[in-house]
Amino acid sequence: MPSTTGSFFPLFCFLSRCAVSLSQSICKIAASRQKHTLPDLTYDYGALEPHINAEIMQLHHSKHHATYVNNLNVTEEKYEEALAKGDVTAQVALQPALKFNGGGHINHTIFWTNLSPNGGGEPQGELMEAIKRDFGSFQKMKEKMAAVTVAVQGSGWGWLGYEKETGRLRIAACANQDPLQGTTGLIPLLGIDVWEHAYYLQYKNVRPDYVKAIWNVINWENVHERLQIAKK
Ligand SMILES: [Fe+2]
Repeated sequence: MPSTTGSFFPLFCFLSRCAVSLSQSICKIAASRQKHTLPDLTYDYGALEPHINAEIMQLHHSKHHATYVNNLNVTEEKYEEALAKGDVTAQVALQPALKFNGGGHINHTIFWTNLSPNGGGEPQGELMEAIKRDFGSFQKMKEKMAAVTVAVQGSGWGWLGYEKETGRLRIAACANQDPLQGTTGLIPLLGIDVWEHAYYLQYKNVRPDYVKAIWNVINWENVHERLQIAKK
């Protein structure tokens, strides 16, 4: 009976070297990946008072957002391990944590820049023209966005987004920490966080008062910049 050992052994060695090389490459990618970090605010925790108080801002940024960042890093590490092992079941099981913590990090990172102690007033230029075109007036846009945001059941976000396909502005609500673009395709321009951690210490259960007040600290220049980038 002819032996196959002679032809099989070099092939086995070659495949083994490939497996080791692939494993090393994955390890290098994992090692080189930068961990997500909590972004600094460009204003003090008390700078948005009296509309959003310092205690809310301090807890919201340094505790809540920081927790999303930490848990996102942990989830990504587990995901990379699962990927390296080819464990699809583990990868699928990690999806909810990736969506929740990744969404939480994405959403809050946008939110802080949407706010400014020098905010409020009205948007200018191209953004204002787009708002008038798509909602009739700035006031009507605010009323619609406030209504949709206040009506979020439980925890979530209200958004003003840009629809690339039509070139129009849209208002949408997302549950939990579902990120706007990842779940609807709209590019986020302005988000209003209506998780209770965003307002309860100051506004208690009266979410409409918080949403009414937040217009006083909206950084329309940032929203305008986001629209210009989204249109490219
Ligand atoms: Fe939040």
